[in-house]
Formats: sequence, structure tokens, C-alpha cells
Amino acid sequence: MMTMTAAISDVAKYFDDMSYGPAPEADTEARAWLARHASGFGHFINGAFVPSASGKSFDTFEPATGKALARLSLGGKADIDSAVSSARKAQAQWAKLPGHARARHLYALARMIQRHARLIAVVEAIDNGKPIRETRDIDVPLAARHFYHHAGWAQIQDTEFADHVPVGVVGQIIPWNFPFLMLSWKLAPALALGNAVVLKPAEFTSLTALLFAELATAAGLPAGLINIVTGEGETGALLVDHPDIDKIAFTGSTDVGRIIRERTAGSGKSLTLELGGKSPFIVFEDADLDGAVEGVVDAIWFNQGQVCCAGSRILVQEGISALFHERLKRRMQTLRVGQPLDKCIDMGAIVAPVQLSRVESLVKKGVAEGATLHQAQIDMPKGGSFYPPTLLSGVQPTSTVATEEIFGPVAVSMTFRTPEEAIQLANHSRYGLAASVWSETIGLALNVAAKLAAGVVWVNATNLFDAAVGFGGKRESGFGREGGREGCYEYLKPKAWLGRKARTVSALPQIRTTVGEFSQPAIDRTAKLFIGGKQARPDGNYSRPVVSPKGKLIGEVGEGNRKDIRNAVVAAHAASGWASATAHNRAQILYYIAENLSGRADAFAARISAMTGASTSAAKAEVEASIARLFTYGAWADKYEGVVHQPPLRGVALAMPEALGVVGVICPPEAPLLGLISLVAPLIATGNRVVVVPSEPHPLAATDFYSILETSDVPAGVVNIVTGSAEELAKSLATHNDVDALWAFGTAELSAMVEKLSIGNLKRTFVDHGKATDWQDRAAAEGTLYLRRAVDIKNIWIPYGE
Ligand code: NAI
Ligand code: MG
Repeated sequence: MMTMTAAISDVAKYFDDMSYGPAPEADTEARAWLARHASGFGHFINGAFVPSASGKSFDTFEPATGKALARLSLGGKADIDSAVSSARKAQAQWAKLPGHARARHLYALARMIQRHARLIAVVEAIDNGKPIRETRDIDVPLAARHFYHHAGWAQIQDTEFADHVPVGVVGQIIPWNFPFLMLSWKLAPALALGNAVVLKPAEFTSLTALLFAELATAAGLPAGLINIVTGEGETGALLVDHPDIDKIAFTGSTDVGRIIRERTAGSGKSLTLELGGKSPFIVFEDADLDGAVEGVVDAIWFNQGQVCCAGSRILVQEGISALFHERLKRRMQTLRVGQPLDKCIDMGAIVAPVQLSRVESLVKKGVAEGATLHQAQIDMPKGGSFYPPTLLSGVQPTSTVATEEIFGPVAVSMTFRTPEEAIQLANHSRYGLAASVWSETIGLALNVAAKLAAGVVWVNATNLFDAAVGFGGKRESGFGREGGREGCYEYLKPKAWLGRKARTVSALPQIRTTVGEFSQPAIDRTAKLFIGGKQARPDGNYSRPVVSPKGKLIGEVGEGNRKDIRNAVVAAHAASGWASATAHNRAQILYYIAENLSGRADAFAARISAMTGASTSAAKAEVEASIARLFTYGAWADKYEGVVHQPPLRGVALAMPEALGVVGVICPPEAPLLGLISLVAPLIATGNRVVVVPSEPHPLAATDFYSILETSDVPAGVVNIVTGSAEELAKSLATHNDVDALWAFGTAELSAMVEKLSIGNLKRTFVDHGKATDWQDRAAAEGTLYLRRAVDIKNIWIPYGE
């Protein structure tokens, strides 16, 4: 009996005493690899390391010690040129390979990552400063998963993406927070679908990219498919500007994302931007509190908080706020900050001194703005760039730390009372990347998830990722998705658009006036604008003539201006109920529009003939095609649905297409009715509200259309029409920050302007670069090509559990 008691107390004592001792991962292999490249790394171009043409180089550092780790080449124009031309040559051959051959290469890359997992994980931890536990258990396995998943897309590309071809040569620019994982997110889909790549890693963390290129080549990947050019922002800019690049895929800061949007405007390069965030982490009263506290650890102290989708804005329901904060602070006290290679730590080093001082200064600012600072009082390693787990509570929703991305181990917190208030606070942000919702009531959690402006929502979880589940943001968090089927489309282009020719734009005909016309009594025959379901006089009270090809004045329309656009945008926002109307309801209304248009088909045909000079039969065909197109989108309205992903966890991810919001539409000059219907119908079928600028030379089909809208039960504000100068009105729409997307068809200059001016709120743009679409050609002019651009996919992760 005595001995038994003694034994128990011994065990208890042992647990009490069980003090922490470091358990470092061996770095011999990694250091040996670095030693082999002791003279410095070249760029990896066309299958081999080559020094910079300029001979310039720079150092990469070990964040945990501050010591220089390796010498890297600084990429200049000649290096980018040679990388792009090597990619161009390789791509032509690669795209010709059968999907199965490409699949086998991708599969070999996945196997190669697994075989060298330890080496990659150690190099990554040393170069970035992040814990080996994360590189070993998260970054590297997820990277392998991306290559496996995309090997599959290569295999079935010819059936699943039969109507698309590869984009070509892709420039990819990645950040330093997940160097190897971001490389995989970018390379796997690009290569799988038949493209070749020039990738610029972040200047702080280039090593695993170079290691990957070396290993991939050893694994038999043909030379030239992956080219790695190391360097700083300027090197990235050279890649962005290179004329022989077909697409840029960027992950990084919103500021640089904007610069890239601006510099690629009008170039025809396709673009995806995965930018910053300030993602809300919402804890309701009925949440599993311990689960939520653990969630915060994963949300903001994972990867030292250097995570674009970090749950950095904690919103806690008032009733549980005190308890929640108390438990969170207690948990913070048990976190361990230490050497990246120590397997027992929770947090490693911040990537670089410049980032550390950025974090420090933002925290100071938060305190100055009235937040309460709490930092874990724990042992901190000496030397290197380390920062403790930090909480700023009681922040104001408008304060700097509540709105700016800190990109460090710093959470801010504030409270809310009701679910509505939680949603409002959560959406009070320029960003819209991710969100995390904690509640045991599934109805509440899903209702909130649906209303959050975010590309990814995790219910009772955070920071879950999978190759099959698309990732990407809304608003200033950028556009495009990585992963899954939607991510594949970002590396493809439609076959139906390949043969489009530059549009021939003829000058507006001059009015040929006759004395008789002027002598007629002055009645106001100016068609008004259509705003908020009502016909409205243009703000400026000016009108513009509509002239037949022979020069006959056939009517006048209002000259819309910036103020009219503003009014239309307000009306469109007020019609937000349209997005939550049932798809059945939207379908019915599209059919109803078609029916009413059909009832007046002859009048519309006559109008089209008069404006464009089209033959009666051609004009009739345009009206018939418009009616059919409305039917097409009525059909799609309740069929363009999401999917349920089953990622490798106990749970599901619901991939839901969501309306973009308020979308501006600049209609093409040609096909005055069919052009308008072809753009407006897919947008409203998916729940968007539109502000439409009809064909500039031939606007009367659109103004006649008001009466169709009025009699077809289209709710006020869903379709607003402002006539006038396409260029002027496009300018107003592009610079309007409450317009979520802008579709513009017309001249190449119009496309360039729209892309350039869209950077304010980084709106989604869809332009034709002056290439004419044959609106009668169904393959080119209707269907999923348009629907895909009318929505964003929101992925809602719902893990199961008891
Ligand atoms: P950054 O956006 O400057 O760097 C990301 C990548 O873009 C790097 O490879 C960089 O060399 C390249 N780059 C920089 N300027 C460029 C240009 N003009 N053209 C083409 N490429 C260019 O981010 P940085 O300066 O490293 O970090 C600053 C802040 O940005 C962070 O504190 C954080 O708030 C945010 N950030 C967000 C990331 C995210 O994943 N959302 C990732 C990295 C940074
Ligand atoms: Mg480094």
C-alpha cells in the first residue's frame, strides 16, 4: 500500500518536473546540400544553374540566427529573357504530350517530394524560420498532395477541359511565408495543364524553389518547363512586363498586386492575384470555448502569424468575452517560441528583421490607438528575429491594427452582441480572403458563413487547405482561385475565343439634317435612363442623337454622366435581395423576359434594322437569338451549382458559386440587342445586379427594352441602364469602389483603360481586348464561359465531429 502511494506520487512528481528540453531535427543533409552550392546558386534556367548575366548576387539569411545562409543570383532583364524563351520552347512540346504522359511526370514529382520530404522540410525551416513541425507535417505533405491531385487533372484534361487549351508561358511570383507550398500551388496546376513556368521566389526564401528545380530535373522533368529566376521586387517586375508571358499568377501584398494589375492592363495577359487579408475569427456564445481557443492558436500563431488567411481579427460575443479572453491568455502562456529545427516548439522566427520591425511598429500603433496589449510572458530565444504571441484586445473596428494586415503573431480582438453585428463587423474590411465561425448551432454558423465576404469560410475550424478545394479571395484580397477545378481554369483559355479577330470600328455616321426635320414641333422624344426600376432623366439634362447608317436621325437618348452611374450603383446595391432570391425565381423571370421580348419581336427587329442597317432577316435572327439566349440562362439559373468536396479530413467543403455583387457592363457596339442580352443574362441568372451601358452607336434597342423589364417582374434595381459615351461611363464604373466587377466589350483601348482603372478596389474585369465575338456563335458567346466569370466560388469547410 505504502509503495503504491509512493509510486503514484513519483509519477505525479515526474510529470510536474517534466521540463522542456530541445529536440532538434538533424540538419546534416541540408547543410551538405548548401555546402555543395557554397559558391552561390545560379538561376535555374533550361534545366541547369546559370549565374546572373550581370554577375550580381545577394544573400539569403537564416532568420533564427541572422546569419547569411547562401548567396543567390540577382535576376535582371537578360536572365528573365532567357528563362522566358526556354519556357516558350519547352511549352510547345509539353502541351503536345498526351495528358497521361504529363500525369506521369506530375506523379513522379509528387513521389519525389515524398522521397525528399525531410531535406525539403529542413531547408525550408532554416531559410524561413518556421517550425520544422509545420514544414514536415503541413507544408511538404500538402505540396505533395497538390502534385498528386493535379497529376489527376492532367490525366483527364482531354475530357474534362476539352473546350480549353493551355494559356502558354506563365510567370509566377510567390511570397516568403509558405515558399515551398506556394510554389506547389502554382507549379502543379500550371504544369499539369500543359504550361511552362518562370517562377520568381521571394528574396527572403528562394532555397526550396532551387532545391525543387534540381530534384525535379533529376526526376526526369524535361528542361525548360520550370525556370527559377531569383531576385527582388525588380526582378518580379521584369517578369510581369515581359511581352512573351501569357499569364501572371501572383501571391503577395495587396500593394504589389495593384501594381501588377496596372502594369499588365491592356496587355492581354491573364492574371490571378492572391493577396492579403484581415480575416475574422468569430466566436459565438454557444461555441465550444476550448475548441475556439485552440482555433485561435492555429489561426494566428501558426507560421508566426505570417499567413494571408490568418484569423487575425477575433470577434467574440459579449457574454463570453471575459471567459474567452481569460482562457486564451492562459493558453498563450503555454506556447513555446524557439529554434525552427526544434521539434517541440510552437513558433519559430519572423522571416526577416524588416518584417519584425513592421510588426513591432504596428503593435505600438495599436497601443497608441487605445488597444490593451497582452503578450505571453515566456522565454524568448536570443538573437534572430523573434516575437512573442501577442493579443491586442478592445480594439476599435476602425483602428489601424483592426484594418491593416499585421502579418505577424498578433491577434486583435473586439466584441459583438448579435449575429447581425458580427456579420457587419466581420465584413467591415477592404479584404475578403477567409473567415472562421465558431458555434455549436449549425444553422447559425452556416447562415453567417453565407453572409461573410470571404472566399473561404471554416466552420469550427481554421486554416484547413486541400488541393481539391479552391482557395482565393474577394475584394482587395484579389481574384482567381488556386486548387480544384476552378483553379485549373486559371491555367487554360477557351478554344472558342482563339480565332477572334480585332473588331473593326467604324466612325459614327454624321447626321444628315433636312429642313423638314427641324421644323417639326419640339416634342421630347429623348429616351430616358433606367435606374432603380424607373425611367429617369439624365442628371446633366443632355441628350445624344442616334443616327442610322445613312445619317438619318432616328432618336435621341440621354447622355448619362458620373452622377447617373452613382445613382444606378446605389439602386443596384439596394436590390441585393436578388442574390438571395431562389434560383427558380430568377429562372422564371429570365423566361418571362424572353416571353415578353418574343411578343414584340417584330418591333425590336425593325429597330435593329433602322439603327444598324441590318437586313430584316438578320435583325429578326438577332432577336430570335436573344430570346434563345435568355432561355439558356433561365435554364442555367438553377443548374449552375456548387459541389461538395470531400477533402482528406472528416468533413466536407461546400463549393458554392456566389454572385459578384454589382457589376458594370459596357456592351459591345455591334449586335445592340444580342450583345446586351449575352452579357446581362448570365450575370442576373447568377444573382448579380447590373449597371449596363448599351451599345454606344445603337442604344435604342436597350431603351426599348425598359418596357420589357417593367412588365417581366424584374425587381427594381436589378437591371439599370445608362446610355451615353462608353468610354466616359466605363471610366466612372471602373473607378467606383462600390462596383464589384466590370465587363467591357469594345475597343482595345477601352479594355486597357478598364483594367488600369480597376485597381482601386481590385474589381474583377472581363474584357475582350478589342477582339470581336460572333454573338451568334453559341460556343463563343454563351454558357459556362460567361457563368464562370459571373461568380466567385466560396468554399465553406464543415468538419464533422461529435
Ligand atoms: P511583396 O508583395 O512585396 O512580395 C511578394 C513577392 O512579390 C516577392 O517575391 C517580391 O519579390 C515580389 N515583388 C515585390 N515587388 C514586386 C513588383 N513590383 N513586381 C513584381 N513582383 C514584385 O511582400 P513583402 O514586401 O515581402 O511583404 C510586405 C507585406 O505584404 C507583409 O507584411 C504582408 O502584410 C504582405 N504579404 C502578404 C502575403 C500574402 O500571402 N497575403 C505574402 C507576403 C507579404
Ligand atoms: Mg532566408
